[in-house]
Amino acid sequence: MSIPRLGVNIDHVATVRNARGENYPSPLRAALLVQKYGGNSVTIHLREDRRHIRDKDLEIIKKKIKIPLNLEIAPTEEMLKISLKNKPNFVCIVPEKRKEITTEGGLNLKKNIKVIKNIIKKLKSRKIRTSLFIEPDTEDIRIAKYIDADCIEIHTGKICKLFEQKKNTSKEFARIKQAVSFANMIGLEVHAGHGITFDSAKLLSKIKGISEFNIGHFIIGESIFIGIKDSIKQFKKIFKK
Ligand code: PXP
Repeated sequence: MSIPRLGVNIDHVATVRNARGENYPSPLRAALLVQKYGGNSVTIHLREDRRHIRDKDLEIIKKKIKIPLNLEIAPTEEMLKISLKNKPNFVCIVPEKRKEITTEGGLNLKKNIKVIKNIIKKLKSRKIRTSLFIEPDTEDIRIAKYIDADCIEIHTGKICKLFEQKKNTSKEFARIKQAVSFANMIGLEVHAGHGITFDSAKLLSKIKGISEFNIGHFIIGESIFIGIKDSIKQFKKIFKK
């Protein structure tokens, strides 16, 4: 089994920039440092309300980095159009609610099957690797395969929260483990993300079959104290074990 890749989400560099209406800190500079210090891809989420990453960030980051760019989008016509125009290497389709602080759960695939299937078809016709952000649920994994997604990304928010609160994680751990092995068995690449810290990464890295972790908020936060280089290096070390 190969070592999981690390995708670094730099949205919150833009959050800090936007808080003061300045043009620093620069998300492009962060993306270039992710590349320099061994991140395997850069993730950005262009939210419909543009609260952090903006259209210009997407354009310039796509132009300047050499490692793959993973763009997270809501399943809307506008976002599909932007994706087809900018051609990120990867797209991860995520649910989006205006009032949420962060992505609160996985996609409702049953309800949005037609729309998402159509988006996947268009992205894949441009050779963009397409992933769906879902809960560790067998039925959703089956649908993801049926509508031809390349990968699924499992929402790890619940297990990470339980872990942080020092509560029992065994049930959610078993649920994720089972979801990973089922998805791998039917030919889907599996990623994981949301709420991951150094400690919860150690727990999640025990699950074999996850090819990529996408981590943002904790890395950017930790960068204040130990720098982005060491934050990335520490995660890479955890996933190497
Ligand atoms: N993966 C997906 C699909 C996400 O939407 C997010 C949050 O934007 C993350 C990973 C990263 O989560 P966090 O910022 O909590 O590490």
